[in-house]
Amino acid sequence: MKYSRRLLEQVQGYVPGEQPQTANVIKLNTNENPYPPSPKVIEAVRQIQADSLRRYPDPLSVAFRAACAERYGYPGPEWVVAGNGMDELLAMAMRTFADPGDTVVTTYPTYTLYETLALLHGARIEMVDLDDAFQLPPGFFETPGRICFLGRPNSPTGVSIPREDVERLCATFKGLVVIDEAYVDFAGDHCMDFPRRFENAIVMRTFSKSFSLAGMRIGLAVARPELISEFLKTKDSYNLDIVSQAAGVAAMGDYEHMLANVKRVCTTRDRLTDGLLRLGFAVPPSQSNFVLVQWKKTPPAKMIFTALRARGIIVRYFEARRLQDALRISVGTDEETDQLLAALREIVE
Ligand SMILES: Cc1ncc(COP(=O)(O)O)c(C=O)c1O
Repeated sequence: MKYSRRLLEQVQGYVPGEQPQTANVIKLNTNENPYPPSPKVIEAVRQIQADSLRRYPDPLSVAFRAACAERYGYPGPEWVVAGNGMDELLAMAMRTFADPGDTVVTTYPTYTLYETLALLHGARIEMVDLDDAFQLPPGFFETPGRICFLGRPNSPTGVSIPREDVERLCATFKGLVVIDEAYVDFAGDHCMDFPRRFENAIVMRTFSKSFSLAGMRIGLAVARPELISEFLKTKDSYNLDIVSQAAGVAAMGDYEHMLANVKRVCTTRDRLTDGLLRLGFAVPPSQSNFVLVQWKKTPPAKMIFTALRARGIIVRYFEARRLQDALRISVGTDEETDQLLAALREIVE
């Protein structure tokens, strides 16, 4: 059980024995969307007949995969695999394409689940340090491995890397390149065209962030049909339930709602960044729905984390190299942002 507790702490920012009540708490630690999902999603969920719940869902989520293929300009569902959230797809990629003992390459820092999954799988993890601007160092492209996981934009930095770097990586890396685009709708560009151009590219997306559906557990991966058919061999039989499949199709059909929410979040992100810079925090340029704030002064970042928590504001602190003097803060509503900035002013000024 060593990893399950670690996973909880890493993924949720959960502190055992210290979980606060969620009412009256400003929760800015897991990069959820502060705005509700599309009304069309809610309507699609309501339309589900009680009787249909007796039946198993479509094991292949074909309608959902077809909707994704159409939205992203791919010929059909054979280019897409659906996941119970993107985390399931990351785990699936590991068990489908890596053998124990293989090397898994990623950056440091990055989404901690890549390392956890590699270790659980008995694989070797090679974490290459990003440079001071959280960009890929030259040596990264020469690192050999079976799978490379690349967060773009990355977490917890919020920073993206140039598309040309991803192109170079796909062209030089001998194994598979998983491009984790969990936050890409908040960014200026994406790599959704890469699976068409590179046979080793897999692009993953989640509905937990831009689509405001973290509670629903929906993710997707796009890759060449030869790779998708391998995923389908190892996936759980009924990985997406009836409700998630219906919600996923409806969300894809109301892209405008998602884009409007993203626009609001990005506007607040810019205002939040501005406020943080004024308080003396360093803020690497975020292309995500969160910011990493760096603070080398007093009180130390960990104390700021605790002081915010005492005021009912939960952000993310990482007890990890290069991150001890940083906090990761999700972009909330404008009101939450005002309260956060006011609390920070009290704590650091
Ligand atoms: C970089 C990154 N990838 C993947 C995920 C997983 O998303 P999901 O909720 O779809 O499992 C997250 C969630 O926080 C994330 O930060």
